[in-house]
Amino acid sequence: MTESTKNATLSFDGKTFELPMFSPTAGPDVIDIRKLYAQADVFTYDPGFTSTASCDSTITFIDGAEGVLLHRGYPIDQLAEKSHFLEVCYLLLYGELPTAAKLEDFETRVTRHTMVHEQMHNFFRGFRRDAHPMATMVGVVGAMSAFYADSADVSDPWQREVASIRLIAKLPTIAAMAYKYSIGQPFVYPRNDLDYAANFLNMCFSVPAEKYEVNPILARAMDRIFTLHADHEQNASTSTVRLASSSGANPFACIAAGIACLWGPAHGGANQACLEMLREIGTVDRIPEFIARAKDKDDPFRLMGFGHRVYKNFDPRAKVMKQSADEVLDLLGVENNPTLQVAKELEKQALADPYFAEKKLFPNVDFYSGIILEAMGFPTSMFTPIFALSRTIGWVSQWREMIADPQMKIGRPRQLYLGETQRDYVNVEDR
Ligand code: SDX
Repeated sequence: MTESTKNATLSFDGKTFELPMFSPTAGPDVIDIRKLYAQADVFTYDPGFTSTASCDSTITFIDGAEGVLLHRGYPIDQLAEKSHFLEVCYLLLYGELPTAAKLEDFETRVTRHTMVHEQMHNFFRGFRRDAHPMATMVGVVGAMSAFYADSADVSDPWQREVASIRLIAKLPTIAAMAYKYSIGQPFVYPRNDLDYAANFLNMCFSVPAEKYEVNPILARAMDRIFTLHADHEQNASTSTVRLASSSGANPFACIAAGIACLWGPAHGGANQACLEMLREIGTVDRIPEFIARAKDKDDPFRLMGFGHRVYKNFDPRAKVMKQSADEVLDLLGVENNPTLQVAKELEKQALADPYFAEKKLFPNVDFYSGIILEAMGFPTSMFTPIFALSRTIGWVSQWREMIADPQMKIGRPRQLYLGETQRDYVNVEDR
């Protein structure tokens, strides 16, 4: 933690309190209110955490005004162009880009943990075939502590390392198994001769009945989607993982909590909701009708894939994702994909509309990812599971950072109570 460089003064009811302030390496200064309640007998109030820093971190930095996203200081567009997902995983976990030897060792460790315990195959069979893959993933990942109890003790640094590698390695296998189970096809085992993204595509799309070759351009696009979703500072699901972990719960249960939170349409579920919205719009001539609905205060409809709590000019990930969308659809000869045409025209009309400019609403990471995934052959129900397997490295990195912090305390927010003051019980005959 940095040293306090100055104080903030808080005055009310004739009293004045000095609160220490800390300056970050980037971003706004913070006011340390940890002792405020003890000193001033008041709480602060910030239900959506719009102005609250829940922790200090060295992993990811976002500048919402400038559209900047840095992972350990490296800009996301450079990582998406020049790096690959497992190297980004190493960077997020250990803080530095690896040497060639360290990268090879890391990739080998991950590759050799991609299989899941054979008994987990039976675990899947307890679900209905039409269960949403996210329901399966929450259940199966939460159950990992029952299969990998030898890496569930968070107080043991070695067990934390093993759990980290197991989660990064097995999430794609579990996501692919959830997909295969939902379509009634046999599970496909991971292959150690394929890289991370190619292995995932093979586990999803190959069948025992015939040879399957992974298209390298699709594998590269898949790898880039993983990289673009890897981490995003203290978003809702990462905050969920941190809060769950603060009680000392095992890492598998905490990551399952993160998957559950990510599922919501306001968060990671937006890519599925966005594609379903684009399909509902259907044709370019219906776009004005939906834009009008999004602007109507009395209509709960929102443009899925638009807007962001932090980014207030553009989401740098969406820019890279848009390039990938053009490459993939061009490769697949579906550049005239009607959904993509609607997406591009919707983006153009929304960005030209003063409402969206005033409210700083523009495509986020979820706007184009669904179009790429659909073109690759994934059903919309697999979009958020793919987001979850990508974000596992972010959740794991943030979890490790918090668990290793000697100042870590259990998260326990307070409240602004607006309920009844104390009153006595009334017997039913007297009511
Ligand atoms: C992700 O936090 C992260 O980092 C998340 C994420 C990550 O990598 O972890 O980036 C991934 O979750 C991306 C966001 C995906 N969600 C969506 O695409 C769903 C649609 N977007 C919205 O639900 C919304 O924009 C949020 C949830 C993303 C952000 O909501 P905020 O910051 O709480 O903003 P808000 O709801 O207070 O809205 C501000 C105004 C409101 O109007 P007023 O009440 O001020 O008049 O903007 C309007 C909203 O009505 N608004 C929208 C809109 N989003 C906000 N109007 C139309 N369409 C939208 N999409």
